[in-house]
Amino acid sequence: MRAVDLIEKKKRGLELTAEELTFLVQGFTNGEIPDYQLSAWAMAVYFKGMTAAETAALTLAMAQSGDQVDLSSLGDKTVDKHSTGGVGDKTTLIVAPIVASLGGIVAKMSGRGLGHTGGTVDKLESIPGYQTELTSEQFMCLSKEVGLVVAGQSGNLAPADKKLYALRDVTATVDSIPLIASSIMSKKLAAGAKSIVLDVKCGSGAFMKNAEDAAALAEEMVAIGENCGRSVSALITNMDRPLGNAVGNALEVEEALAVLQGEGPKDLKEVCLTLASEMLSLCNGWSGDEAMQKATAALSDGTAFAKMKEWIACQGGDLDTFLKNRSALKIHSMEVLAPASGYITQMDAEGIGVSAMLLGAGRAAKNDCLDYDAGIILVKKTGDRIEEGEPIARLFAKDPHPFTAAKKRFLSAITIGEGQPAAQPLIYRKIGGIK
Ligand code: URA
Repeated sequence: MRAVDLIEKKKRGLELTAEELTFLVQGFTNGEIPDYQLSAWAMAVYFKGMTAAETAALTLAMAQSGDQVDLSSLGDKTVDKHSTGGVGDKTTLIVAPIVASLGGIVAKMSGRGLGHTGGTVDKLESIPGYQTELTSEQFMCLSKEVGLVVAGQSGNLAPADKKLYALRDVTATVDSIPLIASSIMSKKLAAGAKSIVLDVKCGSGAFMKNAEDAAALAEEMVAIGENCGRSVSALITNMDRPLGNAVGNALEVEEALAVLQGEGPKDLKEVCLTLASEMLSLCNGWSGDEAMQKATAALSDGTAFAKMKEWIACQGGDLDTFLKNRSALKIHSMEVLAPASGYITQMDAEGIGVSAMLLGAGRAAKNDCLDYDAGIILVKKTGDRIEEGEPIARLFAKDPHPFTAAKKRFLSAITIGEGQPAAQPLIYRKIGGIK
């Protein structure tokens, strides 16, 4: 087999076989097929697309290119979630303990943030002592004993995807739905959970800017997972504004703790309960109503919060010190005042994510250091009435130098108008799963 013939075949819009795709993936991973040939193939896929069978075969080949976590010894209640990335998305910190407190086993690997979206591992590392690097023995032991573990992604999970993603990033081939779907699902399949709930974000702060693209991506990912014997469902959720009020690592942990103690923003709570219910339906076989009722009870009676404390302590995290440090925080802050009166008619979530990144809460480049305490608290959100000169947000950072640029970026992300905008749904639709 020759890579050039497979590029030619895809260029003409023909379907590659599983054997051919495995040849490309293996050859690229072990260095036998050069970057320039995979780049040409990726561009051919961008223009000609892939069939469902091709996407499934590519995903499997990438999932099998490195370590695969075997969770079968934990039984059939292992359940994972994946978010396609948003601003203020701290749902894992809330959803995972709800699900684990009700019998689901959440043995999860998470990534770091890059660009305007945050990563769960970064948020967790803002808790003093929390260990994200675990051996596989520690990972399995915590999964069994606590039913909940969240670690950083093992370096050798789907290495083919890592290499291909880096290539796509510099060859303008990231925004291809079959390539995104296979990239995400290769990592989820290799991570081993039996059930998977996908939170496909849609809107200004998301990869997918409109509902049609989000639905197409969700359908593709659900189909791949089901073809590979997993129970998968996807929720398409609103990312036209940040989720909750906090954007930034420690600020988001603080907000997640508030939700787990019965407080916190309503939008965040609603999205978390819906995701948790979906995970519980898949892993426990509960109806949607039963799952929602039990998830709501676990949140309000403190069971989920108790599970959160157990989980964080078992991974070495010290929540008491985290909270003590927060109250004694010597950090610079600046209020952003409304430049005019009216209603906030739009918030560009990506712009707000970039503003938080400028403060030090995110990385512009892979090796940038984070200021865990940096970020933004939104005082007003889309649909709120504001008067000129009143605070709409508060910026935080250890280093005050970026305040001016961050404030400018924040204000350019806000649109103020005369009329109150119609309320938008938080959850657009569900694809797959138990009806
Ligand atoms: N996230 C991924 O993991 N892969 C993509 O291709 C896009 C987003």
